[in-house]
Amino acid sequence: MPDTVYFNGAYLEREQVRISPDDRGFLFADGIYEVVRFYGGRPFELGAHVRRMRDGLAALRIEGVDPDSIPGIGAELLARNDLESSDAILYLQVTRGAAPRVHHFPDSQVEPTLFVTVRAFTPSVDPSEGVGVITAPDHRWTRCDIKSVSLLPNCMAAQDAHERGAYEAVLVRDGVALEGTRSSFFAVIDGEVRTAPNSNYILPGVTRAVALELCEDAEIPFAERPVLVDEMLRADELFLAGTTTEIMPIVELDGSPVGSGKPGAITSVLADRFRTRIESL
Ligand SMILES: Cc1ncc(COP(=O)(O)O)c(C=O)c1O
Repeated sequence: MPDTVYFNGAYLEREQVRISPDDRGFLFADGIYEVVRFYGGRPFELGAHVRRMRDGLAALRIEGVDPDSIPGIGAELLARNDLESSDAILYLQVTRGAAPRVHHFPDSQVEPTLFVTVRAFTPSVDPSEGVGVITAPDHRWTRCDIKSVSLLPNCMAAQDAHERGAYEAVLVRDGVALEGTRSSFFAVIDGEVRTAPNSNYILPGVTRAVALELCEDAEIPFAERPVLVDEMLRADELFLAGTTTEIMPIVELDGSPVGSGKPGAITSVLADRFRTRIESL
């Protein structure tokens, strides 16, 4: 099986990649990443991922990488890895590059590091069954809108979920259920779909935006308004949305059933419409 990756302008085998120990991604988590889904070789919302990548690079003032190069690199990687018609995931990471270790950004321009991979992907969970989640305190920084590779608080909460047999941890800050460690979070309360508004406390999820569009198309009432923990506990339905998670019903919260303990009606409408959208790619 080929495992050809893109690294700083070249297509290489994965084991040929050499990243400097002075890379600021390694030393400071000074970089961003994106994950893009391909269905049957066709990208899902690639433009939105490219836009978010551009925003992240601008926020961190990393120059020298053109986000518009990503679609071409992605297509080439799929071809080189025999994944042109496959369900796959593209992972990309940009760091500020290698420079002597000082905290502030390098005074002179350094070459950023761009690393892109693809791999075949099949989801591990079935949306018709739903998943269990736990709640966990949100220990992240307050620029969660940047898709930074600094993911240790996400990893720690995901580990707590994993150890408790749950699919995901919903992160709670100041009594508000914000999002998962790798997914956006939604509640259905009195027939209305609710999710935290975009702010510095959440990632502007690509799938989150699609889920809200699907609500609009299906004439399901929705609001971008914080979901308080108390509201989450009495919600009729809960669900997650994300590039790898798609639209995933939550059927158990901290060990207790959500609603009937089965995927909810509104969530199922959205999951079906999501599937239709994928099929029409
Ligand atoms: C913290 C967080 N929120 C939400 C999401 C979902 O975003 P998207 O739908 O763009 O994959 C992710 C994806 O990795 C994430 O890491």
